[in-house]
Amino acid sequence: MKISVIGSGPLGLSNGLVFSAIGKHHVNFVDHDDNVLRALKKGNLPFYEKGLHLLLKKSLKKKRLNFNTMANLDAKNIGQLSLVCVGTSKEGVTDLGSLKEVLQIISRRLELWERPHLVIIKSTLPPLSYEKVIFPLIKNNPYLKLILNPEFMREGQAISDLINDQRVLIGANKISKFNHKLITRLYSHLKSPKISVVHPTQAELIKYMSNSFFAALISLGNDWGRIAEHLPNTDVSQILNFFKNDPRIKENHCDFLNYLRPGVGFGGSCLAKDVQSFVNVGTGLGIVSPMLSSIVSSNNLATRNIIDLSYKIFNGNLAKKKICILGLSFKPQTSDTRSAVGVKLALEYLNIGAHVVCHDFKATMPAELSARGAKQVKNLSEAIKGTHLCILVNNGPQYLKLSEQKLLKLMKNHNFIDGRGLLSNKKFKKIKYFKTGSFFKLTPKTIKSKVKFSNKKSHENFLSENEYLVQ
Ligand SMILES: NC(=O)c1ccc[n+]([C@@H]2O[C@H](COP(=O)([O-])OP(=O)(O)OC[C@H]3O[C@@H](n4cnc5c(N)ncnc54)[C@H](O)[C@@H]3O)[C@@H](O)[C@H]2O)c1
Repeated sequence: MKISVIGSGPLGLSNGLVFSAIGKHHVNFVDHDDNVLRALKKGNLPFYEKGLHLLLKKSLKKKRLNFNTMANLDAKNIGQLSLVCVGTSKEGVTDLGSLKEVLQIISRRLELWERPHLVIIKSTLPPLSYEKVIFPLIKNNPYLKLILNPEFMREGQAISDLINDQRVLIGANKISKFNHKLITRLYSHLKSPKISVVHPTQAELIKYMSNSFFAALISLGNDWGRIAEHLPNTDVSQILNFFKNDPRIKENHCDFLNYLRPGVGFGGSCLAKDVQSFVNVGTGLGIVSPMLSSIVSSNNLATRNIIDLSYKIFNGNLAKKKICILGLSFKPQTSDTRSAVGVKLALEYLNIGAHVVCHDFKATMPAELSARGAKQVKNLSEAIKGTHLCILVNNGPQYLKLSEQKLLKLMKNHNFIDGRGLLSNKKFKKIKYFKTGSFFKLTPKTIKSKVKFSNKKSHENFLSENEYLVQ
């Protein structure tokens, strides 16, 4: 089949390249950013996503790809259907401007060409977007049929999700046999696809419920963790191992316990934006949703907890301390640093007057960090060398292999915060090892010491920027 994918971000490129390299469809990538398209043509991705470069290489070799700007989208290259994958937020807040623009352009052209076409919206939409924003835009166009098809893939494991997740969620009021067949053909690379057709609002709600469910699990785990950190002889990671054998969890094969592991909080461009937008949808309906409302605040507290712990470790004085951030991207196996916790932490340490060294296997340090004097060091040992504190921010497999011997040899002061709660207290006996969700073995003197902020104002800024619940 010949299809168009509009929007070449992580969503569009991962889907488009799976459809072309694995599904063997011919894909026309469309974007308003000509630079991205030119780079793709030469085999270069605008970001790193595990395995995606191989799919790009394969599809280019097989000549299954086309690249066009929106202006060049025409009756010849648009194909049988279009997947709309543009962003639906601006500066972290839901914004349907790009989506509306794309729909208006396609709608006008289809009328001009007098040609029927199926538009599939993959971008994430707040409930009622279809009813209130999309349907009014397309209802008078006899050529344009539109369905929603929310996406559940996760960056860092996009390809495996797109191949293994058999769920195909379709939001449509009505779907013709012809268009149903097109969808079946589109997803023919799945082994046993389960196509569920629901009302568009239901599809929008499912996606928001899914994102807020996982975000809520992370925040719940982090709340547990912050309490456990003050309870001698406790470790939430060990408790989660005990949970695994709860018959209600074990028998249902729930492997979401990993989300409950206390850590630095979630980052990325989706969870916080979608949860906040979900709360706003409720507010618009006159509904208060305290559980949902507290997810993002709790998440901010998880990140702040790491700063607080650092202050405690250094008796309130972090100025001029050399701090190493291990992991800048919001997840391993991707280079996406949007709203990443590593970046937020680095900025806060810079505000405080610390020296920041960043390490990441795939991501490049955002310009705002280099402009503020942070350094990115490619070699892991070099990054750790001479530091007073290392913070494990993302769970890249190579970080999890760090040995105590290496840290002892390279670091100046041996303070290590395991912000993923993934390593074992048993592995680190000689260094000062702090694991999120586990009782911190700080000396009583240090715990009681009055924390003096070296740069009180910047610390206060951090707190106010990240408003959190005060009971
Ligand atoms: N990133 C993910 O893992 C993921 C997973 C599931 C759902 N989603 C949802 O998918 C959507 C896109 O996410 P993303 O991370 O790929 O976004 P992104 O912002 O990284 O990429 C969007 C792409 O669309 C292009 N674009 C924007 N406006 C355009 C326009 N008017 N015309 C043509 N091209 C335009 C941009 O140049 C960019 O290449 C969002 O709604 C997001 O919530 C993302």
